[in-house]
Amino acid sequence: MERLEDIAIAMTAEGQGILAADESTGTIKKRFDSINVESTEDSRRDYREMLFRADEGMKNYISGVILFEETLFQKAADGTPLVDLIRKAGAVPGIKVDKGAKLMPGSEVETVTEGLDGLRDRLVKYYEAGARFAKWRAVIAITADTPSWNCVKANTHALARYAALCQEAGIVPIVEPEVLMDGPHSHHSIERCYEVTEWVLKTQFGELYDAGINLEGMVLKPNMVVPGQKSGSKASVEEVAEKTVHCLKNTVPSSVPGIAFLSGGQSDEDATRHLSAMNAMYDLPWRLTYSYGRALQHAALTAWQGKKENVAAAQRAFSHRARMNGLATQGAWKAELEEAA
Ligand code: 13P
Repeated sequence: MERLEDIAIAMTAEGQGILAADESTGTIKKRFDSINVESTEDSRRDYREMLFRADEGMKNYISGVILFEETLFQKAADGTPLVDLIRKAGAVPGIKVDKGAKLMPGSEVETVTEGLDGLRDRLVKYYEAGARFAKWRAVIAITADTPSWNCVKANTHALARYAALCQEAGIVPIVEPEVLMDGPHSHHSIERCYEVTEWVLKTQFGELYDAGINLEGMVLKPNMVVPGQKSGSKASVEEVAEKTVHCLKNTVPSSVPGIAFLSGGQSDEDATRHLSAMNAMYDLPWRLTYSYGRALQHAALTAWQGKKENVAAAQRAFSHRARMNGLATQGAWKAELEEAA
């Protein structure tokens, strides 16, 4: 069995980051609806095969790929397991293991993520299929009167139980307590995002400690500290970088090898720009990288349109975004590079 610490280091390797391609069947349908492509087992396979065969991007800038369960067991059109394409590109295959965020009793906005029952047995199957890391996403919504302590406590506790089961199975847990930036609420300044994110992360690391988690064998996947998209306020790149790094330094022990952000609805370029600013402006105890879904795939999905003849263009679009984010992990992204492309 490989050491958890070595897998975590590989997942956050210099100049690289994680491709989140683990959209659930419902979410990928929404993405495909936006380009008028029907979501079937084959179309989902074709789309993901296109990404995993985008050699330039995959080999140079992608350290790991998060898969939905279906994809972990799926084969490419020529019969090669998709997991083998990922491994051949030098990336670590990973798996989303949660069963989704479900409304908490008595609440109309707050959710708790489910999926702990039977997880120990599922992890054994996933390990056999080649997964060496996992992801579990908890969702924290900011409104006038949320998050509640009940929601923060339940979600961070579940994440810690999940992380412990992963480590027992030889699988590195990505711990993702996401404070949403896209809620429909106006009480969502960058200060409020800071306050909630700090509270959630403080609680999270307390729970991880109680569960006996080896911090060197995990990766944190947080949101950046930003104003709510519908709050009407904007923050400068420097302010997002400063508040996000301040929040992480106050909450994340330096024994955690890497922090890989989610993009959370930021534009492709904002997600890159913010990451690059943090790496350029600060000396950091952990690697700061990406685990983007939308911000890595949006351009490729749009170029693809479900058509074979667009595969090469979609792969170029994906490789470009991956390269921009790879540069951002070194603080070396520049706006001119976007225009040049
Ligand atoms: P986004 O980057 O689209 O937020 O997705 C990342 C992810 O994996 C959320 O769980």
